[in-house]
Amino acid sequence: MNDEERPPRRQSLLTHALLKGAVSDDDEDEVEDEEELKQQKRIEDMDEEDQPEYSMKEIKTVLEEAAEDIEESGIFDDLAENIEEIVRVGSFKASSSWDERREGMLSPRGGGGGGGMNITNGFRTNATMGHAENESSADDMKENLGGGGRSSSSFRRKRSEYLSNEVMKSLREDRQENNGYPTPILVTEEQLTDAFEVINSLETYVEAGEADPDFVEQFVPEELAVIVKGLAETAGFEETLMDDTQQDAIDFEEAVPDEFNFEEIRKTFDVQPISSRSMDDVRERCLELVNDMRLEDTFAVIDLHAVVKLYEHLKKRMPRVTPHYAVKCCPDRGIISTLAALGAGFDCASQGEVELIKELGIDVDKIILAHAVKRPVDLRCIAEHGVKFTTFDSESELHKMFAARLNECKLVLRIKADDPMAKISFGAKFGAHMDDIPKLLSTAQLLGMDIVGVSFHVGSSSRNPNAYRNAIQQAKDVFQQGYHYGFKMNLLDLGGGYTGLFDQTGNIDESPCDFSIIAKALDDIFPKDQWPKLKIIAEPGRYFAQSPITIASMVYGKRETVKASGDLHYDYYITDGLYGCFNGVIYDGLETPAYILKSTGDGSMPELELRLGLQHESTIWGPTCDSADCVMRDTMMTELNNGDYVLFPDSGAYTLAGSCDFNGIEATKARKFYVWGDRMCPTCTVEQLDSELFLPLKPPCELLQHITPETRASDGVDAGVE
Ligand SMILES: Cc1ncc(COP(=O)(O)O)c(C=O)c1O
Repeated sequence: MNDEERPPRRQSLLTHALLKGAVSDDDEDEVEDEEELKQQKRIEDMDEEDQPEYSMKEIKTVLEEAAEDIEESGIFDDLAENIEEIVRVGSFKASSSWDERREGMLSPRGGGGGGGMNITNGFRTNATMGHAENESSADDMKENLGGGGRSSSSFRRKRSEYLSNEVMKSLREDRQENNGYPTPILVTEEQLTDAFEVINSLETYVEAGEADPDFVEQFVPEELAVIVKGLAETAGFEETLMDDTQQDAIDFEEAVPDEFNFEEIRKTFDVQPISSRSMDDVRERCLELVNDMRLEDTFAVIDLHAVVKLYEHLKKRMPRVTPHYAVKCCPDRGIISTLAALGAGFDCASQGEVELIKELGIDVDKIILAHAVKRPVDLRCIAEHGVKFTTFDSESELHKMFAARLNECKLVLRIKADDPMAKISFGAKFGAHMDDIPKLLSTAQLLGMDIVGVSFHVGSSSRNPNAYRNAIQQAKDVFQQGYHYGFKMNLLDLGGGYTGLFDQTGNIDESPCDFSIIAKALDDIFPKDQWPKLKIIAEPGRYFAQSPITIASMVYGKRETVKASGDLHYDYYITDGLYGCFNGVIYDGLETPAYILKSTGDGSMPELELRLGLQHESTIWGPTCDSADCVMRDTMMTELNNGDYVLFPDSGAYTLAGSCDFNGIEATKARKFYVWGDRMCPTCTVEQLDSELFLPLKPPCELLQHITPETRASDGVDAGVE
């Protein structure tokens, strides 16, 4: 489908108006009019379960407001004309015969008089009301009306009833076909117009005492029911109701800076040059910092050049994609500012993240609030800051957005599209199943929300580029379904999941997930010439944060134990643990190698130790009193001393971000030092791998609970700190 051919977006003014009516403060207004009092009395006399939820007065208010909106919008310019036509048709002199009336007022269809759609043509139901088209005919109507020659008022009443029945029949059938969802009622702008026309004209009849008010009472509450259901679901969110925001819709524009201007960032973050991002050079910088600044706690070294290289690589390999950095992965100001200067956007998941981006002077238009389930405070933040895009995957979220009057915020439908090989999957928690798409599109349409695109997340650390291809294909399917509901989608969000480690040549290692396969899938499924306006974004988190960051944690305690075998076992206590960066061990499957920075002055390993290659079984504990706070267990390594540092390279993803200050240990305040590694290269050389690096033989963290009392006794390992 060509972009140009897609239908214009419509606003469901009806639902707006209905909601306004439903929550109107006028509810308590006195019913002044005598007729209204009578009506109210009639309603009160009805059995309780038969009573309509809304009084005629309320419905009238709603309809009046809808009419006002219609007039203002100019979308339904021909409405007045239609109503006039309806009224005119309804006012035919009783003296004229049915046939005369028919000849006079109707235009025949297909050139023949017999098939003309008479009055229903006045409502345009034959053209647009779906079922009514086939089932209504002049003859049906004639028969239904019982022929000509009636009094004008009985004719109008009967005709009104006939039309009401036709419309209701059509609605019911539509509803049955759509599992109870009133999809086709307002599927197209024309149908919406018709619905308005019907309601308005019926209202005219009601006012003139010519139509059965019960019909209006039935019809409108059907629509209202959907809204009311939503309001009920959002109980507790009332405080989020606020005035409409007046934001204009703005597409993501990729403001690519002419030239990446690093100077400002260098000054702001005091970025120091180092020769390369290799472990040797990072370690040298760490030693300088430790010695010069007398550091004695956890700190991070962040290479902003690596961030730049990662950005350039992604843009080169997937040129159609604009990365929106997933701030949650590492909300580091230096990384964010660098990416912003490069032209990236941002995926924020909360009010806090949105405010951080804004605080850094970045335009709100660069943000997608990509959390499919938002807290009240996040909903308020969307309105307050005018966030333009957010994701959703449920009806409930649509109702929340609607109740919070967030109609200006464009919606991106998150679908489930898991890579089964990904390290961390999100499918159980987020993403709509394909079977639920019609329901979501329908509800959004009814609520007048604007769905502009589709997003997915195949899972973090994806190892299968074909998972992206499948997801892109599914997204296209949703685009097409959306078209039938009047949604003109032009945003495709590929989510995150990419890894960004440097290989031996200093290039980014794409072996886990080949970008060219994703780029090709985009070109195959959304060919550029057919989708010139399609915006494609991605939400890489790990990709940008993992390899630029090295965490350094100091050894501040040591305990020597002689095991039953006579071998030594060392316990070390370092300044960072599971409540700090190593929360990544629990939540993110963090498995990082470690390097030692000896406090021997020049940072080198003690000669003797190195020469002898002496290693001891060692366990490294975090700083809290929790005995589960164990970073690595029973790993063979060189002896450490208090004041030495353990360096964990490539560990910026979901580490610093998840730290907390448990036990009063301020892990969230770990200091950060920025560097600019001149040369890109792998973290460590083969020689380093052989000599200094120690890789935990077991998963870096096995919670202490996993150690049975028996194994502990046989190991001769003491219980952890209490
Ligand atoms: C919606 C969303 N987008 C992007 C990301 C970033 O994922 P990754 O770090 O795997 O790139 C996440 C991670 O939780 C996410 O939930």
